[in-house]
Amino acid sequence: MLLPQAKEVKLNGSGVSNNNSNNKMALGKSIKMYLTIFVATTCVYMVLYQYHMSRQPLATNEVIKHTDKSSSSPLSSSFIASYLWSPAASVNTTAMGHGQGEGQIQRQRQRQGPIQLHAPNATDIAASTSASMAASAMSFLSTVSLPLTLSSSSSSSSSDAKSIITRTTTTTRTAPALTSTTTTAATTTTSTTRTTTTTTRTTQKRLVTSGHAQNAMGTADGGVAHKTRSTFIAVSEPPPLYIITPTYRRPEQLAELTRLGYTLKHVVNLLWLVIEDANRTNPLVAHTLDRIGVPYEYLVAPMPEQYKLTKRAKPRGVSNRNRGLDYLRANATEGVLYFADDDNTYDINIFEQMRYTKKVSMWPVGLVTKTGVSSPIIREGKLEGYYDGWIGGRKYPVDMAGFAVSVKFLHERPQAKMPFKPGYEEDGFLRSLAPLDNAEIELLADECREILTWHTQTKKNSPALPLNMTRYGHTNLAFIEKLLVRP
Ligand code: UGA
Ligand code: MN
Repeated sequence: MLLPQAKEVKLNGSGVSNNNSNNKMALGKSIKMYLTIFVATTCVYMVLYQYHMSRQPLATNEVIKHTDKSSSSPLSSSFIASYLWSPAASVNTTAMGHGQGEGQIQRQRQRQGPIQLHAPNATDIAASTSASMAASAMSFLSTVSLPLTLSSSSSSSSSDAKSIITRTTTTTRTAPALTSTTTTAATTTTSTTRTTTTTTRTTQKRLVTSGHAQNAMGTADGGVAHKTRSTFIAVSEPPPLYIITPTYRRPEQLAELTRLGYTLKHVVNLLWLVIEDANRTNPLVAHTLDRIGVPYEYLVAPMPEQYKLTKRAKPRGVSNRNRGLDYLRANATEGVLYFADDDNTYDINIFEQMRYTKKVSMWPVGLVTKTGVSSPIIREGKLEGYYDGWIGGRKYPVDMAGFAVSVKFLHERPQAKMPFKPGYEEDGFLRSLAPLDNAEIELLADECREILTWHTQTKKNSPALPLNMTRYGHTNLAFIEKLLVRP
């Protein structure tokens, strides 16, 4: 630009007037040419810059940077402009346009990442916090791009659009103090982490305790934080549970088995030994067990005639339980056995706790006698005695639902069995496991401070009235009729 001017000055200075008009034209052309070159070069640079920027991945901290800006003045025009101007804006807008776009999904994964195997230790909280901050930033960004989102989300489902609107509304309300929004989000994430960690720990107990899992549990209990987060894989089953359930034909039978069966369905590696006080199996019971879908063995063990005929108290479920013990002696080598009457109520946590019983474990049973509970008495961590409305000279005044025995220990006591002695079944069986030191009895349910099993009793129902077959013989009632217990 300077050169033509200098040239012009020099030319003017020479005093050659004829060439003046020619020189001016040449000068004009030169100026035009230089201007064109300048504009064209600038354009090329801008295009190249745009292209370069669009190929840069959107870093999380870049989003946080925007949040920082917004925290001082969230709606400042410079922030909006910086977002809209950035080529990344178009990327985000596209993702939001699809509601649950890839970006958002990954962020959710990022937030779930630490939850899988880790406790909310400092690293994870920091990680989830930064993820939440990023999420908050994204929420805020969605406010900015809302009109775009809504107009372009016509292809996405209405619920997707709704979720965006909800989030946007929340952010808009708290927009003047986005920092506090971020904090809230972080807190929420942390609590989620805690909840899920609990679940993970339960699952780990249920599944394997391989070195890897123990490692993870160690972390869950507040141990060393690991940077790498590998996926938990179950490599072997936990010790098996053998649930021995005596049952007998009565109007409530199928209902009781259904309720208990669906409780047991929540428990892994369990074999349900359903043993009926009968001479033959009942296809209706087998059908019910099939429908529930818990692994089972359906056996029969009738009460000896001499007890059936007595007018005094009967030893209920004893032949059934002894049949179950015989089955285990013949078929099981490890794991734990538990006598679960068909009418009681069981919290599934007790199954996970009893699974690791070394010899005998015990815990309280609710709704037993007038005391309302039958429980071991623990003082300073030691078994001191038993609390029960009826002691009756028993060494072990406990309910059938209040103890479990290891299968290995049962094998070590080949003579152990349950006596046909009403009221003394539990005591007789536990005595038959002698020698058994009190110190060897494991105290479950938080050292017997919780009630996880109840001796519930179902109201007796009178047998169903006979069906009028002339009237209903060709209806569905003829089918239902076969399911009912008659006098
Ligand atoms: C209480 C205890 O919880 C039982 O473990 C104990 O066997 C019984 O007392 C007793 O001392 O006789 P309770 O609720 O009174 O139990 O008795 P039930 O629930 O009627 O029977 C216990 C189990 O035996 C049930 O699973 C039931 O289905 C079964 N049973 C009952 C039979 O197999 N045959 C019968 O004739 C009666
Ligand atoms: Mn009962």
